Amino acid sequence: MVVLVTGGTGFLGRRVVRELLERNHQVRCLVHTPGRERIFDHRRVEVEYGSVQDPASLNNAFHDVETVVHLAGVIRRRRRNGFDDVHREGTANVVAAAKAAGARHLLHVSVVGAAKDQTYPYLYTKWQGEQEVINGGVPYTIFRPSMLFGEGDEFLNALAGLVRLFPLVPVIGAGNNRLQPLSVDDLARCIAITLGREDLKGQALDLGGPERLNYNELVSVVAKAMGKRRLRVHLPVWLMYSAAKVSEGLLPRPPITTDQIKMLGLRSVAEMGEVERIFRFTPRPLEGNIDFVKSVGIADGIQMLLGAMPRRIRDH
Ligand SMILES: NC(=O)c1ccc[n+]([C@@H]2O[C@H](COP(=O)([O-])OP(=O)(O)OC[C@H]3O[C@@H](n4cnc5c(N)ncnc54)[C@H](OP(=O)(O)O)[C@@H]3O)[C@@H](O)[C@H]2O)c1
Repeated sequence: MVVLVTGGTGFLGRRVVRELLERNHQVRCLVHTPGRERIFDHRRVEVEYGSVQDPASLNNAFHDVETVVHLAGVIRRRRRNGFDDVHREGTANVVAAAKAAGARHLLHVSVVGAAKDQTYPYLYTKWQGEQEVINGGVPYTIFRPSMLFGEGDEFLNALAGLVRLFPLVPVIGAGNNRLQPLSVDDLARCIAITLGREDLKGQALDLGGPERLNYNELVSVVAKAMGKRRLRVHLPVWLMYSAAKVSEGLLPRPPITTDQIKMLGLRSVAEMGEVERIFRFTPRPLEGNIDFVKSVGIADGIQMLLGAMPRRIRDH
């Protein structure tokens, strides 16, 4: 029987596909942007093209599906691919297709802090997506991770760009809010393990890594991994919010969005030890596992400041 993965070409999705193949599952990916399936071995991964916003494309992809791993999401809204389109409406479509196909387990990735609060459109629409899953009539497991790190991540690579460019690293606001970074590879492992776990049906799991770090500490960890020592300069939130608003009007992909600045004020943490308790392995810490930041150069830093992610760092 088939495991259908949405968002399989993304930062998390490609690792989930790898973990599923290692466990000998038959994997089919719903590919949103044709061509992105190049990252897969076409002899091992079946591909169907489509969008979670297009129920007809889902009908083709969902035949014979026993398990659905729904990862498709947008971190930055785009025209015709906004938060609501993908997280709420798209998830409702995926749930309906999974139900029609008789799927027996729907694994859905949300985010820690997803909540019924329209101040934060990303978190609000992720909460709406969760509600679609909970009320959809297919046995489900919801994952609510904190920030994910790993090769190709947007967050730490952008931070590395700032460390590379500036002797004083700019931090928006006080930088005191805590995150609980979880390795993207470790989350992919948790998801793959869940396929055989009847006991996790009907559960929503808040998951984080082994340490809680605030933004200031993240700057220090990244600088240390790059062999640098850096002081910080704190910039007022209102100033950066205004700058982000202007750059959203000017740049196709601003280095930071107003949505992201609003969320900087929120804690994003889970209970400690949940990965060990539920999945019986210890997630890796940041230190010693972010060597990829060393390769971020001056040109990469400038490109990221101007709103482009170098393809050498992230190919999607
Ligand atoms: N990264 C984090 O730190 C983090 C933290 C907590 C939760 N999450 C959640 O984890 C999930 C995966 O995130 P990620 O970091 O892997 O994001 P990502 O790298 O941007 O990948 C998103 C994936 O979703 C696909 N997608 C987007 N719109 C789609 C649509 N309309 N129809 C079908 N597929 C679509 C993308 O395909 P295209 O590129 O072709 O559009 C891509 O394969 C998301 O649900 C996100 O909210 C991420």
